[in-house]
Amino acid sequence: MSEQREIVVTGGGTGIGLAIAARFTAAGERVTVTGRRKDVLEAAAEKIGARAVAFDASDPEAVQAALAELPARVDVLVNNAGGNTDRVREAPAPGDLAGLADAWRANFAANVLSAVLVTAALKPRFADGVRVVTLGSIAAKQGSGSYGAAKAAIEAWNTDLARQLGPAGGTANVVAPGVVLDTEFFHGTLTEEWLDSRISVAFNRRAGRPEEIADVVRFLAEPGAGHLTGQVVPVNGGAHGAR
Ligand SMILES: NC(=O)c1ccc[n+]([C@@H]2O[C@H](COP(=O)([O-])OP(=O)(O)OC[C@H]3O[C@@H](n4cnc5c(N)ncnc54)[C@H](OP(=O)(O)O)[C@@H]3O)[C@@H](O)[C@H]2O)c1
Repeated sequence: MSEQREIVVTGGGTGIGLAIAARFTAAGERVTVTGRRKDVLEAAAEKIGARAVAFDASDPEAVQAALAELPARVDVLVNNAGGNTDRVREAPAPGDLAGLADAWRANFAANVLSAVLVTAALKPRFADGVRVVTLGSIAAKQGSGSYGAAKAAIEAWNTDLARQLGPAGGTANVVAPGVVLDTEFFHGTLTEEWLDSRISVAFNRRAGRPEEIADVVRFLAEPGAGHLTGQVVPVNGGAHGAR
């Protein structure tokens, strides 16, 4: 039997990250999930048979400190931690430029720095043929203010990463979901009107499920997916595509 792969899933305690982590543990791989809330993370890890390492992925010192607990070799890294920080902050008043700058920094930290820092910290531990998958969003194409801008930045960063990993057989791709329900993403802010407007433009007239995103991530993490790199893979029921 071949050696078990070491998988790291950031933000793996809830939602899409948890579904991804569960796919890997179900396949018999060794999985480490990360996130900030230790209690949430540990409960989730226990449920699916993963290890839990709690830290803030957007904080350089916290990432550095967590390295001692993260696997010595990484075969698959899923940069899933993130979300739209505007959904948990009060919008800055018109003209409040300092507040606006803070709001933009928060989305940049949550979605760009989290992936950039964890990837840079673990890079010396990447196995040849490593698979890095980072969660983008349909918002990179459709807007959503600083959140969409941050997810668009991830796409540019991923291109460089794919270029760096290629010579040793590694790949780096972005999976960009449309709206996905059954996660903590909306933090109670989801309205029927907003959801209907998104679902109505999907060819299949529905939202995605975390497990459907997990299946695509699993595919990209396969050893056989080695010629698929530097790409953005939209998973959105056709709500936005190459047309
Ligand atoms: N749901 C959607 O409709 C949708 C659509 C497109 C893209 N996405 C993307 O998919 C990814 C997963 O989101 P989700 O929908 O599954 O929402 P979620 O349930 O809120 O999952 C996000 C996870 O990331 C963790 N996290 C956030 N910031 C972190 C940080 N700084 N350090 C460490 N962990 C952090 C959270 O745990 P803690 O709070 O405990 O840290 C949480 O477990 C995100 O990148 C999101 O932007 C979601």
